[in-house]
Amino acid sequence: MAERPYIVGNWKMNGTRAMLSEARAIDRAAQRYMKAEVAVAPPYTLIHAVHREAEQIGVGAQDVFPGEDGAHTGDISASMIADAGAKFVILGHSERRADHKETNKLINAKIDSALDAGLRIILCCGETLKVREAGEAEEFVLKQLKASLPQIDDAAERLTVAYEPVWAIGTGKTATPKDIEAMHKAIRQLLDETYGEETSAEVRILYGGSVKPDNAREILSIPEVGGALVGGASLSAESFLGIVVAASETEDA
Ligand code: 13P
Repeated sequence: MAERPYIVGNWKMNGTRAMLSEARAIDRAAQRYMKAEVAVAPPYTLIHAVHREAEQIGVGAQDVFPGEDGAHTGDISASMIADAGAKFVILGHSERRADHKETNKLINAKIDSALDAGLRIILCCGETLKVREAGEAEEFVLKQLKASLPQIDDAAERLTVAYEPVWAIGTGKTATPKDIEAMHKAIRQLLDETYGEETSAEVRILYGGSVKPDNAREILSIPEVGGALVGGASLSAESFLGIVVAASETEDA
């Protein structure tokens, strides 16, 4: 793997200022586990405050409006996110595809806006249980990715892909190591074809879906798993740091 394992906490629609103490604890501890790269994506309301706490960890957003600043009531632009201290944005998450009917076309527009503002991107993909049970998971995920991988020359340097099977998110279920490895290898092949092997090697492929301290070690040691996108277990410093420790120990192994 080209870079350190990347462990990203997606706080989703959770967190008030009381969570800042967790962010501080995550940041201070991350300074002791430099073999992993650690980041959190709090809700918009906390981005700037978490950024001010963060000496070591990266801070990102969970969405962006696809366009310039202007008359769009209630929306937040990429430049506003960057100004608040965010360095990346999570796009294409299955919860946004489901809750807000986000299409690949819209996700593409968001990717363009984020790249224009200098942000890095974590692009999510993943199949539903119905698709997996029909034996079409790989085909579905690759099609989803093909439709939204940025084609801009230097975009790959700022790209991370996250494979998150929808049925594994928040359910306590995880895909088997064999299935994770097969999907990550298929994604790597697509990245190789799209960007060439050298550039593709710079793109980490994260796994997401019920990653916890007690399964992190196994998941993070699967070939082609370059880190984890963590929901529920990122909401407390204790459980999130359990995953960070597992990531830095996997690097030693
Ligand atoms: P959980 O870790 O809660 O399953 O969430 C995963 C996820 O959706 C991260 O983006």
